[in-house]
Amino acid sequence: MAEMPEYIPGLAGVPAARTSICLIDGIVGKLQYRGYPIEVLAEQGTYEEVAYLLLFGKLPTTRQLDEFRGQLIAERGLKFRIIDLLKTLPESGHPMDALTAAVAAMGMFYKGDHIEDLEFRRLSVIRLIAKLPTIVAAWHRIRRGDDPIKPSTELSHAANFLYMLEGEVPTRLAERVFDVALVLHAEHSMNASTFTARVTGSTLTDPYAVVASAIGSLAGPLHGGANEQVLATLEDIEDRSPQAVRRWAEDRLARKEKIMGFGHRVYKVKDPRATILQGLATQLFRKFGSTPDYDLAVELEGQMTDLVGSKGIYPNVDFYSGIVYQKLGIPIDLFTPIFAVSRVSGWLAHLLEQLENNRIFRPSQIWIGEADRTFVPIEERG
Ligand code: SDX
Repeated sequence: MAEMPEYIPGLAGVPAARTSICLIDGIVGKLQYRGYPIEVLAEQGTYEEVAYLLLFGKLPTTRQLDEFRGQLIAERGLKFRIIDLLKTLPESGHPMDALTAAVAAMGMFYKGDHIEDLEFRRLSVIRLIAKLPTIVAAWHRIRRGDDPIKPSTELSHAANFLYMLEGEVPTRLAERVFDVALVLHAEHSMNASTFTARVTGSTLTDPYAVVASAIGSLAGPLHGGANEQVLATLEDIEDRSPQAVRRWAEDRLARKEKIMGFGHRVYKVKDPRATILQGLATQLFRKFGSTPDYDLAVELEGQMTDLVGSKGIYPNVDFYSGIVYQKLGIPIDLFTPIFAVSRVSGWLAHLLEQLENNRIFRPSQIWIGEADRTFVPIEERG
């Protein structure tokens, strides 16, 4: 028998691709998209510009960005049958499931000959980035009995999403804050949903199936789903005094419970995106007033740093994002769909990279079962 390779649970530290999309140094908290620091992109970029950068590897010129924006705007609308499909879904269902269903159905409406057809590939990428926000906003309205709002052809990607939720054009500050949140969530190397996208893409299936599978992976509470759970976690802490918060955290840790929004496979320091999101939250508070959850979150971060900082457990991207979205008036169960609305450009950048030099993913396994068993007829089984 051939020598057994070592088994590494969760494939921790096992390279799954050669890539030039996203660089992370988790020891010092460095994050770069295509070689540009996240802090600079958050400060100076827009989501559309960053999506272009992720997909094509370079910052767009003014003409390229205008053209890209125009293509996205032209593809924002949904086919009425996709809207009909959303209307058939149970309104109590989770928006991530509605998003998965609608994206999977897109594969039937936008059939291409083959993923190797470059025009089909290009159009699919544009459609997916353009339409995900429309699906999320449409579902949010349909489930409560309202008609979806038609996308604007004037507003930015960020402003248009906020507009489609309630029909109000957001303030410049709300637009900017949401745009930065989209930039921060757009890409993060070989996380579970991106790995899913690459595995699905490696079979040469269509990009809608790729994104639908990635959305399913993002939804879990250990991944993107954590952002919804952070606010519930904060609500769970009744006494907000420092001593009580510490007791609450000690109790959870003693029971080996995971505290949502903390810890990361790669970062052993505070996630740089959490630091930027915290800055956005304070900008919003200056304009619209603070929220008690924020003070509690800061207290919990301090206590956790004291208790488990030495183990490398610090806030991740999901810890402060919910506080920002809540201040923007976004319902809690849309937090994870918003993550997907942003991350779709990262998934697609990885799909394009995977297809450049594709080999189907097919890892091995370590057999721990019994072999060569004798089949016993059912009447003879004890
Ligand atoms: C995202 O990968 C990415 O890049 C993901 C992401 C992206 O942009 O795509 O950054 C987005 O998914 C952020 C993570 C959101 N998830 C959560 O906030 C859920 C809570 N966090 C964890 O469950 C955990 O930290 C993970 C899932 C994020 C990472 O899991 P690992 O690397 O498998 O770590 P682990 O579960 O094996 O924990 C290692 C140790 C354990 O202690 P010991 O048994 O060694 O004593 O750290 C402890 C854990 O108990 N630990 C925590 C903890 N996270 C880790 N203890 C308490 N609370 C936590 N949150």
